[in-house]
Amino acid sequence: MNVREWLANERSTRLINPSQVTHFHLYQMRPVMSGTNSIADIRSTIVQTRRISSDVSIITLDCPSVAATAKPGNFVNVKVNTSTQPLLRRPFSIHNVDENLIEIMVKTIGCGTALFSDAQKGSTVMVLGPLGNCFTTTGPDFKNAILVSGGIGTAPMLFLEKALAAQGKKVINLIGGRTKEDLLAQNLSNCRCATDDGSIGFKGTVVDLLRRELQDIEKEGTLKLFACGPNPMLKALAKFCNDRLLACDVSLESVMGCGIGICYGCSVEINTPEGEVRTVLLCKEGPVIDAKLLVV
Ligand SMILES: Cc1cc2nc3c(=O)[nH]c(=O)nc-3n(C[C@H](O)[C@H](O)[C@H](O)COP(=O)(O)OP(=O)(O)OC[C@H]3O[C@@H](n4cnc5c(N)ncnc54)[C@H](O)[C@@H]3O)c2cc1C
Ligand code: FES
Repeated sequence: MNVREWLANERSTRLINPSQVTHFHLYQMRPVMSGTNSIADIRSTIVQTRRISSDVSIITLDCPSVAATAKPGNFVNVKVNTSTQPLLRRPFSIHNVDENLIEIMVKTIGCGTALFSDAQKGSTVMVLGPLGNCFTTTGPDFKNAILVSGGIGTAPMLFLEKALAAQGKKVINLIGGRTKEDLLAQNLSNCRCATDDGSIGFKGTVVDLLRRELQDIEKEGTLKLFACGPNPMLKALAKFCNDRLLACDVSLESVMGCGIGICYGCSVEINTPEGEVRTVLLCKEGPVIDAKLLVV
């Protein structure tokens, strides 16, 4: 069984013998260095949980080492309980940072996210991070930032918006969902929404909304797009941006195991600037990539 098959198996059956994977060091990781960031595996206390919709919660963790070095787009890999079921950690974007605290926005879709959402205030979880690369927010080449998100892809946008605003960039949020219940616009500014069923805002996809709004936004000056959401949405957005030569960073999703480049469970194919295709590990060279490199 290769690692991808093993990861799929663990996620679908959960009947896994931990001895199969001890060499991946999935329980307790030592601090490692990635680029200039120090990654630590910290037992973190849940200081607050807030349900913001029927299936989405915001979990606040006391996590000073991650809070000190995290950048927008980074994620953490969380061991949601002390049991071997589920064995693997689950990756979550950093939603917000406030002094020693980090916030995670969690949508319940399966066993790991359900356990994390239901965790009690005062309990602890192991948090490995900050992991992955980050959105490129600096540079004089844009004045306006368009943040495009769909569903739980809105999770990293609050942290990103704050970083962009601190650099004097004007931020516009385009937020999509299937219905108004799927929109997660809390605390974001300058929001324009799209829903598939038209229950609120523009009726259609968030990329259709961008197509409608772009001319007006472009009048306000140079721009760059930042996106997170389901991969089909990101592919449609990348095509839209690439056709118009618009700069765009996209944060991709994949199933992950270790989160630090050991298990090879998160490999994806991307284009190279030379026009070839190469395989990267999303947990290390992603999750953020230049939309020009996305294989659409
Ligand atoms: C870099 C990164 C950042 C993420 N940030 C967030 C976040 O901020 N908030 C949040 O709620 N979720 C986030 N996710 C997704 C989250 O990690 C998954 O929802 C979670 O791992 C599912 O675990 P589970 O045990 O609940 O579901 P499982 O029982 O493992 O899976 C349930 C179903 O969802 C599918 N699935 C599981 N993981 C993924 C995935 N990553 N992409 C697509 N389909 C998947 C499975 O194939 C299965 O069909 C992120 C994922 C990545 C890779
Ligand atoms: S999640 Fe293990 S290599 Fe990326």
